[in-house]
Amino acid sequence: MKKSVKIILALVLAAIIGAGGFVIYKNSQGISYDISSVEKVQNDVEIVSETEDGVTIKKNSDGDFKVLMFTDTHLNGKKAKDNMTVTYIVNNINEQKPDLVIFGGDNISSGFNKKRTTEFAELMENLGVYWATVLGNHEGEGILAVSREKNVEIFSSYDYCLMRNGKDDIEGNGNYTINVLNSDGTLKEVFFFMDSGSYMTDESKAEYGVTKEGEVYDGVKTSQVQWYKDKHDAITAEYGKFKSITVVHIPPYQAEREYSEEDYLYGEKREGVCESGFDSGLVDAMIQKGSAQAVYFGHDHVNDFGVMYKDILFSYIQPSGYGVYNMESKFDSPENEWIQGCTLINIKEDGTYTAERIYNHK
Ligand SMILES: [Fe+2]
Repeated sequence: MKKSVKIILALVLAAIIGAGGFVIYKNSQGISYDISSVEKVQNDVEIVSETEDGVTIKKNSDGDFKVLMFTDTHLNGKKAKDNMTVTYIVNNINEQKPDLVIFGGDNISSGFNKKRTTEFAELMENLGVYWATVLGNHEGEGILAVSREKNVEIFSSYDYCLMRNGKDDIEGNGNYTINVLNSDGTLKEVFFFMDSGSYMTDESKAEYGVTKEGEVYDGVKTSQVQWYKDKHDAITAEYGKFKSITVVHIPPYQAEREYSEEDYLYGEKREGVCESGFDSGLVDAMIQKGSAQAVYFGHDHVNDFGVMYKDILFSYIQPSGYGVYNMESKFDSPENEWIQGCTLINIKEDGTYTAERIYNHK
């Protein structure tokens, strides 16, 4: 073998070993928080039954059912910022002692995220509180990122995670419900979780008549809307009339078009709403079925408004991440103007609820 060929082979081998080492190093980066240090949250919620696309849980004591919602935590391997995000998640959970925790997606972003994905689930397992999530547009994105399918598989393998992949014959990963029962077995509330995807493909643009070129945010598809209707009918057949809340990551198509800032009940729009680029009929289905109290979403990290649209609350979950664009990085805002926090809802026996926006810095 010629000397020059040997040198080239040696360089290629060195590059492969170097790249492998880099991958191993990046995958070894956890969420930068001592997840073994947390203590279990005491509550009396139990799983009663489950199917491939839904879990029924029951709170065995009377009183409000407390749900704490976070979104866009974006744990991305930046040690100090990730540590800050997780510290506030843990502190808020310890303070509120919720019966259920919900994450609005973009939980663990960037590639090389398997360890962080697993540790995030372990953290929640150690806290011993039931939790659920939808996938955001950034899940599955980046070099060697955990795929969307795998993300659901990892999360749902943990006892305290109520996320389910849902039916295989509809689009998206993580289309499922949580039925919340009162201690007497009556239905208090239903949560619909739906995968709003990431970015539209050329095929889906053609299918939904989207002519805009380039990057267009995805949304809930028609097969998922049909699932929503069918599931709604099935729950009605079992329990009768009920109230429901839907959680998606990307704001629905109507989230900016159908009302103006004068209509806001609270919060502000500090950036354009990056909503789904098409309307598959989800909101119409919600109106038609009649149970919907609210649709909660994340995605835009410096917006936190809520508004009523045809008797349904459209609301951002309070954003929760520090290692991603936020009030500080986007506007250079002083700490007392940062909006990171979480949204607390207290659901009464009949499904009516009150909501509170918790700020970490105010
Ligand atoms: Fe995000």
